[in-house]
Amino acid sequence: MAARPEAGVPRHLAIVMDGNGRWAKQRLRPRTFGHHAGQKAVREAVEFCLRRGIASLTLFAFSSENWRRPPTEVSALMELFLKALDKEVDELHGNGVRIRFVGDLDAFAPELSARMRAAMERTSANTALNMNVAVNYGGRWDIAHAARLAAEAVARGEFSADDIDETRLHGYTCLADQPPLDLFIRTGGERRVSNFLLWQIAYAELYFTDTLWPDVDQACLDEALDDYARRERRYGRTGEQVAKG
Ligand code: IPE
Ligand code: IPE
Ligand code: MG
Repeated sequence: MAARPEAGVPRHLAIVMDGNGRWAKQRLRPRTFGHHAGQKAVREAVEFCLRRGIASLTLFAFSSENWRRPPTEVSALMELFLKALDKEVDELHGNGVRIRFVGDLDAFAPELSARMRAAMERTSANTALNMNVAVNYGGRWDIAHAARLAAEAVARGEFSADDIDETRLHGYTCLADQPPLDLFIRTGGERRVSNFLLWQIAYAELYFTDTLWPDVDQACLDEALDDYARRERRYGRTGEQVAKG
């Protein structure tokens, strides 16, 4: 069973897990050492969401642009994903976590994408937390993919092009079945979105921390949530209107 969220707690949290390479560099170790260390922070984030009653956690693990990295780093990351799938899925499943990989999975080696699909299937009935892992994901890809799906539905005669509005297109984007994105966190000090959830970010609160991803712990995430709880979300209205409810 999912814990009930307290007031002022986001229902959907997204994190750009950035800073692994610099964390390793500070320790005079190769970048992949940082990626390995980052796995502990993933566990911390999952535990945090379960504890705080957050319904959805969306983690940026590999962007559509990350293929541009040196081939050795890309293959080390693929290896890490495979190992993490082997190692972590049992425990996540035991904790009631529903795993979903979002992104263009077809670009991965068949063994890896098959295991991603198997993990999704195995955990599909879980309800404690939706854990979405964005891999080979790009926000522009998500929007283009949604447009293509809508166009295909038009071609099948399900509705006409005139019927495509924001609500309908939203239904074809990744994570449309989950709560709207409330809080977007980026670790590692950069103040940019790097093609993460472009559509979903429209009214999310943004939070940036200099903490490098492998150093992220419960206290760091609590700080982000405290900051979020102090925000006034106006959605275009005035502060006075919001106060009246
Ligand atoms: C984020 O950390 C992890 C991935 C992109 C896979 P980085 O590898 O980008 O770390 P920095 O930004 O170089 O420190
Ligand atoms: C974004 O981080 C992608 C992930 C964390 C998976 P990057 O490190 O790739 O982003 P840029 O290159 O600094 O914009
Ligand atoms: Mg980076």
